[in-house]
Amino acid sequence: MTQRPRAVTVLGATGSIGSSTLDVIARHPDRYRVHALTAHRSRETLLAQCRVHAPALAVLDHEEDAAWLRERLRQAGLATEVRAGAEALVEVSEAPEVEVVMAAIVGAAGLLPTLAAVRAGKRVLLANKEALVMSGALFMDAVGRAGATLLPIDSEHNAIYQCLPVEHRGGLARHGVTQLLLTASGGPFRGWSPRALAEVTPEQACAHPNWSMGRKISVDSATLMNKGLELIEACWLFDARPDQIQVVVHPQSVIHSMAAYSDGSVLAQLGNPDMRTPIAYGLAWPERIEAGVEALDLFAVSRLDFEAPDEAAFPCLRLAREAMADGGTAPAVLNAANEVAVAAFLDGTLGFAGIPELVARVRERCPVEPAGELEGILAADARARREAREWLSRR
Ligand SMILES: NC(=O)c1ccc[n+]([C@@H]2O[C@H](COP(=O)([O-])OP(=O)(O)OC[C@H]3O[C@@H](n4cnc5c(N)ncnc54)[C@H](OP(=O)(O)O)[C@@H]3O)[C@@H](O)[C@H]2O)c1
Repeated sequence: MTQRPRAVTVLGATGSIGSSTLDVIARHPDRYRVHALTAHRSRETLLAQCRVHAPALAVLDHEEDAAWLRERLRQAGLATEVRAGAEALVEVSEAPEVEVVMAAIVGAAGLLPTLAAVRAGKRVLLANKEALVMSGALFMDAVGRAGATLLPIDSEHNAIYQCLPVEHRGGLARHGVTQLLLTASGGPFRGWSPRALAEVTPEQACAHPNWSMGRKISVDSATLMNKGLELIEACWLFDARPDQIQVVVHPQSVIHSMAAYSDGSVLAQLGNPDMRTPIAYGLAWPERIEAGVEALDLFAVSRLDFEAPDEAAFPCLRLAREAMADGGTAPAVLNAANEVAVAAFLDGTLGFAGIPELVARVRERCPVEPAGELEGILAADARARREAREWLSRR
Protein backbone atom coordinates (compact mmCIF):
# COMPACT_ATOMS: atom_id res chain seq x y z
CA MET A 1 0.00 0.00 0.00
CA THR A 2 1.42 3.43 -0.86
CA GLN A 3 1.32 5.97 1.97
CA ARG A 4 0.34 9.59 1.51
CA PRO A 5 3.18 12.11 1.97
CA ARG A 6 3.60 13.40 5.53
CA ALA A 7 2.92 17.12 6.04
CA VAL A 8 5.93 19.09 7.30
CA THR A 9 6.18 22.59 8.78
CA VAL A 10 9.64 24.12 8.48
CA LEU A 11 10.18 26.85 11.10
CA GLY A 12 13.13 29.00 10.00
CA ALA A 13 12.89 27.74 6.40
CA THR A 14 15.13 30.47 4.96
CA GLY A 15 18.10 29.64 7.20
CA SER A 16 20.92 27.17 6.76
CA ILE A 17 19.08 24.24 8.42
CA GLY A 18 15.75 25.22 6.84
CA SER A 19 17.24 25.22 3.31
CA SER A 20 18.97 21.88 3.90
CA THR A 21 15.66 20.46 5.14
CA LEU A 22 13.91 21.57 1.96
CA ASP A 23 16.71 20.01 -0.08
CA VAL A 24 16.11 16.61 1.59
CA ILE A 25 12.32 16.94 1.33
CA ALA A 26 12.58 17.70 -2.41
CA ARG A 27 14.38 14.38 -2.90
CA HIS A 28 11.37 12.48 -1.50
CA PRO A 29 8.11 13.93 -2.83
CA ASP A 30 6.45 10.54 -2.29
CA ARG A 31 7.20 10.76 1.47
CA TYR A 32 6.91 14.45 2.40
CA ARG A 33 4.96 17.53 1.44
CA VAL A 34 5.47 21.04 2.81
CA HIS A 35 2.57 22.40 4.84
CA ALA A 36 4.12 25.67 6.05
CA LEU A 37 7.33 27.65 5.66
CA THR A 38 8.37 30.46 8.00
CA ALA A 39 10.98 33.23 8.04
CA HIS A 40 11.75 36.37 9.99
CA ARG A 41 12.45 39.02 7.29
CA SER A 42 13.85 37.09 4.28
CA ARG A 43 10.82 37.55 2.07
CA GLU A 44 12.65 37.10 -1.26
CA THR A 45 14.05 33.73 -0.19
CA LEU A 46 10.68 32.69 1.19
CA LEU A 47 9.04 33.64 -2.13
CA ALA A 48 11.52 31.46 -4.03
CA GLN A 49 10.87 28.58 -1.64
CA CYS A 50 7.09 28.97 -2.01
CA ARG A 51 7.45 28.78 -5.79
CA VAL A 52 9.24 25.43 -5.47
CA HIS A 53 7.34 23.82 -2.59
CA ALA A 54 3.86 25.42 -2.87
CA PRO A 55 3.09 25.28 0.87
CA ALA A 56 -0.43 25.85 2.18
CA LEU A 57 0.92 28.59 4.46
CA ALA A 58 3.87 30.97 4.69
CA VAL A 59 4.66 33.07 7.77
CA LEU A 60 6.81 36.21 8.15
CA ASP A 61 7.34 38.32 11.25
CA HIS A 62 6.10 41.69 9.91
CA GLU A 63 2.79 42.43 8.25
CA GLU A 64 4.43 44.66 5.58
CA ASP A 65 6.64 41.73 4.48
CA ALA A 66 3.61 39.43 4.54
CA ALA A 67 1.65 41.87 2.33
CA TRP A 68 4.59 42.00 -0.11
CA LEU A 69 4.76 38.19 -0.29
CA ARG A 70 0.97 37.84 -0.60
CA GLU A 71 0.99 40.12 -3.66
CA ARG A 72 3.94 38.29 -5.35
CA LEU A 73 2.32 34.89 -4.75
CA ARG A 74 -0.98 36.15 -6.15
CA GLN A 75 0.82 37.38 -9.30
CA ALA A 76 2.49 33.97 -9.61
CA GLY A 77 -0.88 32.22 -9.35
CA LEU A 78 0.04 30.39 -6.14
CA ALA A 79 -2.60 29.66 -3.51
CA THR A 80 -0.25 29.88 -0.47
CA GLU A 81 -1.88 31.80 2.38
CA VAL A 82 0.47 34.32 4.01
CA ARG A 83 0.33 35.18 7.70
CA ALA A 84 2.37 37.45 9.98
CA GLY A 85 3.52 37.35 13.59
CA ALA A 86 4.38 35.06 16.47
CA GLU A 87 0.87 33.61 16.84
CA ALA A 88 0.94 32.37 13.27
CA LEU A 89 4.21 30.53 14.03
CA VAL A 90 2.46 28.69 16.84
CA GLU A 91 -0.55 27.89 14.64
CA VAL A 92 1.50 26.30 11.85
CA SER A 93 3.39 24.26 14.47
CA GLU A 94 0.33 22.74 16.11
CA ALA A 95 -2.06 22.49 13.12
CA PRO A 96 -3.82 19.08 13.15
CA GLU A 97 -2.79 18.22 9.57
CA VAL A 98 0.94 18.67 10.38
CA GLU A 99 2.85 15.52 11.31
CA VAL A 100 6.44 16.77 11.37
CA VAL A 101 7.85 20.12 12.56
CA MET A 102 11.43 21.12 11.81
CA ALA A 103 12.36 23.57 14.61
CA ALA A 104 15.09 25.61 12.89
CA ILE A 105 14.47 29.17 14.07
CA VAL A 106 17.63 30.55 15.65
CA GLY A 107 17.56 31.62 19.30
CA ALA A 108 14.87 32.20 21.90
CA ALA A 109 12.38 33.27 19.19
CA GLY A 110 11.93 29.57 18.45
CA LEU A 111 10.82 28.58 21.96
CA LEU A 112 7.06 29.15 21.73
CA PRO A 113 6.42 27.52 18.33
CA THR A 114 8.71 24.59 19.16
CA LEU A 115 6.95 24.05 22.47
CA ALA A 116 3.60 24.28 20.68
CA ALA A 117 4.67 21.49 18.32
CA VAL A 118 5.80 19.37 21.27
CA ARG A 119 2.56 19.97 23.17
CA ALA A 120 0.58 18.98 20.06
CA GLY A 121 2.43 15.63 20.04
CA LYS A 122 4.22 16.13 16.70
CA ARG A 123 7.42 14.56 15.47
CA VAL A 124 9.73 17.46 16.35
CA LEU A 125 13.12 17.71 14.66
CA LEU A 126 15.05 19.89 17.09
CA ALA A 127 17.75 22.12 15.60
CA ASN A 128 16.79 25.13 17.75
CA LYS A 129 18.93 24.12 20.75
CA GLU A 130 18.29 27.47 22.48
CA ALA A 131 14.63 26.46 23.06
CA LEU A 132 15.68 23.36 25.01
CA VAL A 133 18.50 25.16 26.85
CA MET A 134 16.04 27.80 28.08
CA SER A 135 13.25 25.52 29.19
CA GLY A 136 14.91 22.08 29.74
CA ALA A 137 12.74 20.39 32.39
CA LEU A 138 9.49 21.96 31.20
CA PHE A 139 10.26 21.06 27.58
CA MET A 140 11.13 17.41 28.32
CA ASP A 141 8.10 17.09 30.59
CA ALA A 142 5.91 18.34 27.71
CA VAL A 143 7.48 15.78 25.36
CA GLY A 144 6.56 12.99 27.78
CA ARG A 145 3.03 14.22 28.47
CA ALA A 146 2.10 14.81 24.82
CA GLY A 147 3.84 11.68 23.51
CA ALA A 148 5.79 13.81 21.02
CA THR A 149 8.67 12.20 19.13
CA LEU A 150 11.74 14.36 19.72
CA LEU A 151 14.63 13.77 17.33
CA PRO A 152 17.82 15.82 17.77
CA ILE A 153 19.18 17.47 14.63
CA ASP A 154 22.35 18.97 16.08
CA SER A 155 24.88 16.62 14.48
CA GLU A 156 26.45 15.72 17.85
CA HIS A 157 23.17 14.84 19.55
CA ASN A 158 21.94 13.08 16.46
CA ALA A 159 25.13 11.00 16.54
CA ILE A 160 24.68 10.16 20.23
CA TYR A 161 21.03 9.28 19.58
CA GLN A 162 22.21 6.85 16.91
CA CYS A 163 24.79 5.33 19.32
CA LEU A 164 22.34 4.78 22.21
CA PRO A 165 19.77 1.99 22.57
CA VAL A 166 16.39 2.94 21.06
CA GLU A 167 14.87 3.22 24.54
CA HIS A 168 17.44 5.25 26.48
CA ARG A 169 15.28 7.16 28.97
CA GLY A 170 15.72 6.72 32.71
CA GLY A 171 19.41 7.47 33.11
CA LEU A 172 22.44 6.38 31.13
CA ALA A 173 23.73 3.88 33.72
CA ARG A 174 20.62 1.69 33.30
CA HIS A 175 21.71 1.06 29.74
CA GLY A 176 25.37 0.44 30.51
CA VAL A 177 26.45 3.85 29.16
CA THR A 178 29.32 5.36 31.16
CA GLN A 179 30.01 8.54 29.20
CA LEU A 180 28.89 10.63 26.27
CA LEU A 181 31.74 12.02 24.19
CA LEU A 182 30.61 15.27 22.63
CA THR A 183 32.94 16.19 19.79
CA ALA A 184 33.82 19.78 18.88
CA SER A 185 35.72 21.05 15.88
CA GLY A 186 37.33 23.66 18.13
CA GLY A 187 36.10 26.41 15.80
CA PRO A 188 38.20 28.66 13.54
CA PHE A 189 40.39 29.94 16.42
CA ARG A 190 41.56 26.66 17.94
CA GLY A 191 45.06 27.18 19.38
CA TRP A 192 44.89 31.00 19.23
CA SER A 193 46.31 33.07 22.09
CA PRO A 194 44.02 35.39 24.14
CA ARG A 195 45.86 38.36 22.58
CA ALA A 196 45.07 37.16 19.03
CA LEU A 197 41.47 36.35 20.04
CA ALA A 198 40.92 39.93 21.17
CA GLU A 199 41.38 41.10 17.54
CA VAL A 200 38.94 38.64 15.93
CA THR A 201 36.44 40.15 13.45
CA PRO A 202 32.87 38.96 12.71
CA GLU A 203 33.96 37.85 9.21
CA GLN A 204 36.69 35.64 10.68
CA ALA A 205 34.31 34.23 13.30
CA CYS A 206 31.70 33.35 10.67
CA ALA A 207 34.18 31.45 8.47
CA HIS A 208 33.93 28.01 10.07
CA PRO A 209 36.54 25.53 8.82
CA ASN A 210 34.17 22.53 8.40
CA TRP A 211 30.51 23.60 8.56
CA SER A 212 28.47 26.17 6.65
CA MET A 213 26.03 27.68 9.17
CA GLY A 214 24.03 30.77 10.14
CA ARG A 215 25.95 33.69 11.66
CA LYS A 216 24.83 33.27 15.27
CA ILE A 217 25.79 29.60 15.56
CA SER A 218 29.04 30.34 13.71
CA VAL A 219 30.02 32.85 16.40
CA ASP A 220 28.87 30.41 19.10
CA SER A 221 31.13 27.77 17.55
CA ALA A 222 34.05 30.21 17.57
CA THR A 223 33.60 31.08 21.30
CA LEU A 224 32.76 27.44 22.20
CA MET A 225 29.45 28.68 23.63
CA ASN A 226 27.88 26.39 21.03
CA LYS A 227 29.53 23.43 22.75
CA GLY A 228 28.34 24.76 26.10
CA LEU A 229 24.75 25.03 24.85
CA GLU A 230 25.13 21.53 23.39
CA LEU A 231 26.33 20.19 26.73
CA ILE A 232 23.17 21.52 28.37
CA GLU A 233 21.08 20.17 25.47
CA ALA A 234 22.67 16.72 25.86
CA CYS A 235 21.92 16.65 29.61
CA TRP A 236 18.22 17.14 28.89
CA LEU A 237 17.95 14.93 25.85
CA PHE A 238 19.79 11.95 27.31
CA ASP A 239 19.06 12.28 31.02
CA ALA A 240 22.76 12.85 31.67
CA ARG A 241 24.64 14.73 34.37
CA PRO A 242 27.23 17.27 33.15
CA ASP A 243 30.03 15.10 34.58
CA GLN A 244 28.90 12.22 32.32
CA ILE A 245 29.67 14.32 29.24
CA GLN A 246 33.20 14.86 28.00
CA VAL A 247 33.90 17.47 25.34
CA VAL A 248 36.50 16.21 22.88
CA VAL A 249 38.02 18.56 20.31
CA HIS A 250 38.20 16.70 17.02
CA PRO A 251 39.26 19.15 14.29
CA GLN A 252 38.26 17.01 11.28
CA SER A 253 34.52 16.91 12.25
CA VAL A 254 34.19 13.38 10.90
CA ILE A 255 33.18 11.66 14.15
CA HIS A 256 30.04 13.54 15.17
CA SER A 257 30.00 12.19 18.76
CA MET A 258 30.23 8.92 20.70
CA ALA A 259 28.78 6.87 23.54
CA ALA A 260 31.06 4.85 25.84
CA TYR A 261 29.72 1.65 27.45
CA SER A 262 30.67 -0.22 30.64
CA ASP A 263 32.17 -3.15 28.70
CA GLY A 264 34.76 -0.81 27.13
CA SER A 265 32.95 -0.36 23.81
CA VAL A 266 32.79 3.12 22.32
CA LEU A 267 30.18 3.59 19.59
CA ALA A 268 30.69 6.49 17.19
CA GLN A 269 28.74 7.92 14.28
CA LEU A 270 30.84 9.16 11.36
CA GLY A 271 30.04 11.04 8.20
CA ASN A 272 30.93 14.05 6.10
CA PRO A 273 30.05 17.33 7.85
CA ASP A 274 26.72 17.90 6.08
CA MET A 275 23.56 18.65 8.08
CA ARG A 276 21.42 16.81 5.53
CA THR A 277 22.48 13.54 7.22
CA PRO A 278 20.91 14.27 10.63
CA ILE A 279 17.96 16.00 8.92
CA ALA A 280 17.23 12.93 6.78
CA TYR A 281 17.64 10.73 9.85
CA GLY A 282 15.09 12.82 11.76
CA LEU A 283 12.61 12.92 8.90
CA ALA A 284 12.66 9.18 8.19
CA TRP A 285 13.49 7.62 11.58
CA PRO A 286 13.46 4.66 12.14
CA GLU A 287 13.98 4.20 8.40
CA ARG A 288 16.91 5.55 6.39
CA ILE A 289 16.59 7.66 3.27
CA GLU A 290 18.97 9.15 0.75
CA ALA A 291 20.13 12.65 1.83
CA GLY A 292 22.27 13.83 -1.09
CA VAL A 293 25.39 13.53 1.08
CA GLU A 294 28.60 12.18 -0.42
CA ALA A 295 29.86 8.88 0.97
CA LEU A 296 32.63 9.26 3.52
CA ASP A 297 36.07 8.56 2.03
CA LEU A 298 38.26 7.49 4.95
CA PHE A 299 41.37 7.43 2.77
CA ALA A 300 40.80 11.09 1.94
CA VAL A 301 40.25 11.87 5.65
CA SER A 302 43.35 9.76 6.46
CA ARG A 303 43.65 10.76 10.14
CA LEU A 304 41.46 11.60 13.11
CA ASP A 305 42.86 13.85 15.89
CA PHE A 306 41.57 14.48 19.40
CA GLU A 307 42.50 17.02 22.09
CA ALA A 308 41.05 18.63 25.20
CA PRO A 309 39.29 22.00 24.84
CA ASP A 310 41.19 25.09 25.98
CA GLU A 311 38.78 26.41 28.60
CA ALA A 312 41.12 29.21 29.65
CA ALA A 313 41.09 30.79 26.19
CA PHE A 314 37.39 29.91 25.62
CA PRO A 315 35.57 30.47 28.96
CA CYS A 316 32.06 30.05 27.47
CA LEU A 317 32.17 26.29 27.89
CA ARG A 318 32.78 26.68 31.64
CA LEU A 319 30.07 29.35 31.89
CA ALA A 320 27.55 26.95 30.33
CA ARG A 321 28.57 24.07 32.59
CA GLU A 322 28.13 26.34 35.64
CA ALA A 323 24.70 27.49 34.42
CA MET A 324 23.57 23.86 34.06
CA ALA A 325 24.88 23.09 37.57
CA ASP A 326 23.03 26.11 39.02
CA GLY A 327 19.83 24.93 37.29
CA GLY A 328 16.49 26.78 37.30
CA THR A 329 16.55 29.88 35.11
CA ALA A 330 20.38 30.01 34.93
CA PRO A 331 20.60 28.41 31.44
CA ALA A 332 17.89 30.79 30.13
CA VAL A 333 19.88 33.75 31.48
CA LEU A 334 23.10 32.41 29.97
CA ASN A 335 21.38 31.97 26.61
CA ALA A 336 19.75 35.41 26.58
CA ALA A 337 22.98 37.18 27.56
CA ASN A 338 24.84 35.27 24.88
CA GLU A 339 22.27 36.22 22.21
CA VAL A 340 22.67 39.92 23.05
CA ALA A 341 26.46 39.57 23.17
CA VAL A 342 26.67 37.80 19.81
CA ALA A 343 24.39 40.37 18.16
CA ALA A 344 26.61 43.17 19.57
CA PHE A 345 29.74 41.40 18.34
CA LEU A 346 28.23 40.94 14.87
CA ASP A 347 27.26 44.62 14.61
CA GLY A 348 30.75 45.69 15.71
CA THR A 349 29.91 47.16 19.14
CA LEU A 350 31.52 44.39 21.24
CA GLY A 351 34.87 42.66 20.85
CA PHE A 352 35.19 38.87 20.70
CA ALA A 353 36.58 38.65 24.25
CA GLY A 354 33.64 40.77 25.43
CA ILE A 355 31.20 37.93 24.73
CA PRO A 356 32.11 35.72 27.72
CA GLU A 357 32.67 38.82 29.84
CA LEU A 358 29.15 40.10 29.19
CA VAL A 359 27.62 36.65 29.79
CA ALA A 360 29.46 36.33 33.12
CA ARG A 361 28.38 39.82 34.27
CA VAL A 362 24.72 39.18 33.40
CA ARG A 363 24.79 35.81 35.21
CA GLU A 364 26.10 37.60 38.34
CA ARG A 365 23.29 40.15 38.19
CA CYS A 366 20.38 37.75 37.58
CA PRO A 367 19.28 35.61 40.52
CA VAL A 368 18.56 31.95 39.75
CA GLU A 369 14.83 31.27 40.02
CA PRO A 370 12.89 27.99 39.63
CA ALA A 371 12.10 27.25 35.96
CA GLY A 372 8.89 25.26 36.35
CA GLU A 373 6.64 27.74 34.51
CA LEU A 374 7.02 29.27 31.07
CA GLU A 375 6.24 32.75 32.42
CA GLY A 376 9.22 32.57 34.82
CA ILE A 377 11.54 31.45 32.03
CA LEU A 378 10.40 34.26 29.72
CA ALA A 379 10.77 36.80 32.56
CA ALA A 380 14.33 35.59 33.24
CA ASP A 381 15.12 35.84 29.52
CA ALA A 382 13.74 39.41 29.39
CA ARG A 383 15.63 40.52 32.52
CA ALA A 384 18.90 39.05 31.23
CA ARG A 385 18.50 40.92 27.94
CA ARG A 386 17.83 44.16 29.84
CA GLU A 387 20.89 43.66 32.04
CA ALA A 388 23.02 42.83 28.98
CA ARG A 389 21.93 45.96 27.11
CA GLU A 390 22.53 48.12 30.18
CA TRP A 391 26.03 46.67 30.58
CA LEU A 392 26.73 47.38 26.91
CA SER A 393 25.48 50.96 27.18
CA ARG A 394 27.51 51.64 30.38
CA ARG A 395 30.87 50.63 28.91
N1 LIG B 1 23.45 25.61 10.66
C1 LIG B 1 23.83 24.50 11.23
O1 LIG B 1 24.65 23.75 10.67
C2 LIG B 1 23.28 24.09 12.56
C3 LIG B 1 23.73 22.90 13.14
C4 LIG B 1 23.18 22.50 14.35
C5 LIG B 1 22.21 23.27 14.99
N2 LIG B 1 21.80 24.43 14.40
C6 LIG B 1 20.78 25.23 15.10
O2 LIG B 1 19.68 25.42 14.22
C7 LIG B 1 19.09 26.70 14.44
C8 LIG B 1 19.10 27.45 13.11
O3 LIG B 1 20.44 27.66 12.72
P1 LIG B 1 20.82 28.20 11.26
O4 LIG B 1 22.28 28.08 11.14
O5 LIG B 1 19.94 27.52 10.24
O6 LIG B 1 20.41 29.74 11.42
P2 LIG B 1 20.15 30.82 10.26
O7 LIG B 1 20.78 30.39 9.00
O8 LIG B 1 20.51 32.12 10.84
O9 LIG B 1 18.55 30.75 10.06
C9 LIG B 1 17.69 31.12 11.08
C10 LIG B 1 16.24 31.02 10.64
O10 LIG B 1 15.40 31.51 11.70
C11 LIG B 1 14.65 32.65 11.21
N3 LIG B 1 14.53 33.62 12.30
C12 LIG B 1 15.53 34.37 12.82
N4 LIG B 1 15.05 35.17 13.80
C13 LIG B 1 13.73 34.93 13.88
C14 LIG B 1 12.67 35.48 14.66
N5 LIG B 1 12.89 36.44 15.58
N6 LIG B 1 11.41 35.01 14.46
C15 LIG B 1 11.17 34.05 13.54
N7 LIG B 1 12.13 33.49 12.76
C16 LIG B 1 13.39 33.93 12.94
C17 LIG B 1 15.45 33.18 10.04
O11 LIG B 1 14.64 33.96 9.17
P3 LIG B 1 15.34 35.09 8.21
O12 LIG B 1 16.08 34.33 7.15
O13 LIG B 1 14.19 35.85 7.68
O14 LIG B 1 16.25 35.89 9.10
C18 LIG B 1 15.93 31.87 9.41
O15 LIG B 1 14.90 31.29 8.68
C19 LIG B 1 19.94 27.37 15.53
O16 LIG B 1 19.32 27.18 16.78
C20 LIG B 1 21.26 26.63 15.48
O17 LIG B 1 21.92 26.60 16.73
C21 LIG B 1 22.31 24.84 13.20
